[in-house]
Amino acid sequence: MEMSKHFLFALLCASSLAVFVHSQDQSGFISLDCGLPAKGSNYTDINTSIYYVSDAAFIDTGISKTISPEFTTPDLEKQLLYVRSFPENIRNCYNIKVTNGNKYLIRATFMYGNYDSQGKVPVFELHLGENLWSVIGFVNASTVRTLEIIHVSTLDYINICLVNIKLGTPFISALELRPLNNNTYVTKSGSLMLLSRLDMGSTTNQTVRYKDDVYDRIWKPYNFFNWTQLSTTSAVAVSNNYHPAESVMNTASTPKNSSEPLLFYFETVDPTSQFYFYLHFAEVEKIQADQSREFNIYLNGKLWYGPVSPDYLVATTIYSREPIGMGRNYFWIIKTDNSTLPPILNAVEVYIVKEFLQSQTVNHG
Ligand SMILES: *[C@@H]1O[C@H](CO)[C@@H](O)[C@H](O)[C@H]1NC(C)=O
Ligand SMILES: *[C@@H]1O[C@H](CO)[C@@H](O)[C@H](O)[C@H]1NC(C)=O
Ligand SMILES: *[C@@H]1O[C@H](CO)[C@@H](O)[C@H](O)[C@H]1NC(C)=O
Ligand SMILES: *[C@@H]1O[C@H](CO)[C@@H](O)[C@H](O)[C@H]1NC(C)=O
Ligand SMILES: *[C@@H]1O[C@H](CO)[C@@H](O)[C@H](O)[C@H]1NC(C)=O
Ligand SMILES: *[C@@H]1O[C@H](CO)[C@@H](O)[C@H](O)[C@H]1NC(C)=O
Ligand SMILES: *[C@@H]1O[C@H](CO)[C@@H](O)[C@H](O)[C@H]1NC(C)=O
Ligand SMILES: *[C@@H]1O[C@H](CO)[C@@H](O)[C@H](O)[C@H]1NC(C)=O
Repeated sequence: MEMSKHFLFALLCASSLAVFVHSQDQSGFISLDCGLPAKGSNYTDINTSIYYVSDAAFIDTGISKTISPEFTTPDLEKQLLYVRSFPENIRNCYNIKVTNGNKYLIRATFMYGNYDSQGKVPVFELHLGENLWSVIGFVNASTVRTLEIIHVSTLDYINICLVNIKLGTPFISALELRPLNNNTYVTKSGSLMLLSRLDMGSTTNQTVRYKDDVYDRIWKPYNFFNWTQLSTTSAVAVSNNYHPAESVMNTASTPKNSSEPLLFYFETVDPTSQFYFYLHFAEVEKIQADQSREFNIYLNGKLWYGPVSPDYLVATTIYSREPIGMGRNYFWIIKTDNSTLPPILNAVEVYIVKEFLQSQTVNHG
């Protein structure tokens, strides 16, 4: 196929166990609980220890509402209790100061929760600056929609806009920006929309985010019935550029039948989607002298990277340098002939390229 010759890959490996000083603080984090009253209500979330502020200082329009009491279950994230609703104007924009040229993870969260007592979920658009980011719709009132994009700002502010398309009143529950390392998640062009971010072989069944993840990426637990879990209680060095969370890297999936490959795929409904993949590995078992773990990674039937032999308790990230376009993308991770141990996978991230027009300095009232 035409696209196959563009496959170029790189192995990024932590070269040493040198102490890396994690920025455990939230410097550069922008955490807005949308609709939260402006005065005296900012708070530190007890589960994540993230400090949320009211969005009032970042937007001039919209009204504060609370979701309906029947949706306020005890384990509901606090950010979902208030929403900012936009009954007026077609287009309502947040204006958030950022550092020009920096890379940001931008996350927008929505839960309707019948906040307007209309009992009808709306459909509206989410824009990043001038460009459509996504159409937001809901299965029902308790559906939580979370959208993430990794984006480099070409201005010293970012506009995030809710746009009325006459299918109900737009609203938003939370908006979060996290600065990322410029040298990570590099694309040939465009921004990266998150499709999936999985903590393979999770033994806790819990999502992982800040503080475990310094960039506050949210990792979802994943286990497959043909796979089993490997884990370690030893510290895993996660000092490569990607800094995957240690609590994500200390577990891995491996096939139950050690002769079988790890087989999985990612797909979207749009067959023209362009994908970027990030596979995170760390050996979590002490390999004995008479053992070896070595495997090759095939993508859509072609060798993508290998052979790989992950370092003991050190994170390695193997990632795409070029977009890969297939409706459905099959990974096949299989041990080499002389490997005594089956393949492992600790974590995986999948993104889809979103091409945006050049940002313009147009003001929308
Ligand atoms: C709460 O956050 C807002 C930013 O939206 C800020 O203007 C305000 O001073 C903060 N209030 C307190 C008490 O920290
Ligand atoms: C927050 O932590 C408490 C106590 O550990 C737990 O019961 C609750 O489900 C957590 N909430 C969320 C939104 O994770
Ligand atoms: C990212 O790149 C921009 C522009 O080159 C630069 O101003 C900024 O300091 C860089 N940030 C980091 C974290 O490297
Ligand atoms: C909303 O949809 C989800 C998924 O389809 C379902 O599990 C849940 O029960 C529904 N909730 C309500 C209140 O209808
Ligand atoms: C993990 O969570 C799922 C869904 O909440 C549940 O069905 C399953 O039993 C949980 N597994 C463990 C090991 O806790
Ligand atoms: C699960 O494992 C069995 C036995 O190795 C294999 O035949 C089957 O194809 C596997 N299923 C999937 C979905 O990988
Ligand atoms: C393990 O996989 C191999 C190769 O697919 C197969 O020949 C063997 O029967 C499987 N063993 C079990 C116990 O399923
Ligand atoms: C496996 O065999 C190949 C040659 O067939 C060799 O290059 C490689 O080093 C071997 N790997 C291990 C882990 O022994």
